[in-house]
Amino acid sequence: MKRIGVLTSGGDGPGLNPCIRAVTRKALSLGMEVCGIKRGFAGLVDGEMVDLNARSVGGILGQGGTFLGTARAPEFKTLKGQREALRNLNEALIEGLAVIGGNGSFGGALALHKLGFPVVGVPATIDNDVGGTDIAIGVDTALNTILEAVDKIKDTASSHQRAFLIEVMGRDCGYLALKSGVAGGAEAVLIPEVETPLEDLAQKMVDAYVRGKSHCIVIVAEGYKPGTLAVVQYLEERREELGFDVRVTVLGHVQRGGRSSAFDRLLATQLGAAAAQVLYDGESGCVVGLVGNQFTLTPLEEALAHPPQIDLGLYEVARVMER
Ligand code: F6P
Repeated sequence: MKRIGVLTSGGDGPGLNPCIRAVTRKALSLGMEVCGIKRGFAGLVDGEMVDLNARSVGGILGQGGTFLGTARAPEFKTLKGQREALRNLNEALIEGLAVIGGNGSFGGALALHKLGFPVVGVPATIDNDVGGTDIAIGVDTALNTILEAVDKIKDTASSHQRAFLIEVMGRDCGYLALKSGVAGGAEAVLIPEVETPLEDLAQKMVDAYVRGKSHCIVIVAEGYKPGTLAVVQYLEERREELGFDVRVTVLGHVQRGGRSSAFDRLLATQLGAAAAQVLYDGESGCVVGLVGNQFTLTPLEEALAHPPQIDLGLYEVARVMER
C-alpha cells in the first residue's frame, strides 16, 4: 500500500489530534503517503482532502478537538454517497483508510469495507460504547473533566447543604456516569442499564442527609430514563417533605473538549500507529483496540454487534461507597 487516508468522524473528543498524528507519522515511517480527509465522511463525499506530512501534524499533540474537523454525515449512509466517496478515494489514489470514531463511524467504515475498500477503525468516543476495545480514546480525559466539575460542585453543594443532579454524556451508555460516580464519591448514580424507581432515589437522598452528609450528589447518565428533568420535577414537587433543595448541572459538551490526558495521548498514539501498520499489512475490516492490556484486532462486524456491557460489579461497589 502506497497511500492511505485518515479521517475523524462523528462526535469529537479528546485525543483525536494525537491519533491523526500517530497514523500519519507511522505511515510515513513505513514509506506510505498520507492524505487527511476533512469533516469525516461528509468531507469524503465532497472530496475535501489535504496531504499530510510529519510537519503538518506537528504541534497538535496537546490540542483538543480535531484539526481535520468532523461531522455527522447522513449523506454517507446512502449507496449514492458511498459511491461518491469511493470515487473520490480512487481519484486521490488512496488505497486504504483509517477511520477514527465511534459506532456510527464504524458503520461507515464497514460499508466501505463491504464495497471492497480497505479500512481500519480506531475507537474514539467519550461514551465508551464501542466494541473491540476495553477503553476508547477520549474516555479518560472526559472522566477527568467530569471529576473536576464534581469536586467543584461538591464544594458549593456542601456550603448550601443542597442536593445536585449532575448530568453527564454517554448517549445510551452509563459508563461515564458509573465511573465518575465512583471516582467522584457520588451519593447515587442513575444509569440506563439499571432501573432505579424515583421513590427509592428520593429515600436514598433523604438517608444521606440523615447520616449527616452536608450534600447529596447524584450523577445522572444522559441516557437514564425517565431523564434528568423528570427526576428534578419529582424531587421539587416533594421539596417540603424531603427537606432539601435541588440544583441541576448539565455538563454537556465541556466533556468533549480540552487537552487529552497522558493516558489518552498514549492510547491514541499506540492505536493510531497500529492502524497504519494494519493497513500497510493489507488487513481490512477490523478495529484496533486495547483488550485486557493487549493491542488487538477485532472484525468491525463483531465490534458493532458486541458493544461492551456495563460493569455491574462496579455498580455494586458504587452502592457500598454511597454510605
Ligand atoms: O457520542 C458522543 C456524544 O457526546 C454523546 O455523549 C452525546 O449523546 C452526543 O455525542 C451529542 O451529540 P452532538 O454533539 O451531535 O449533539
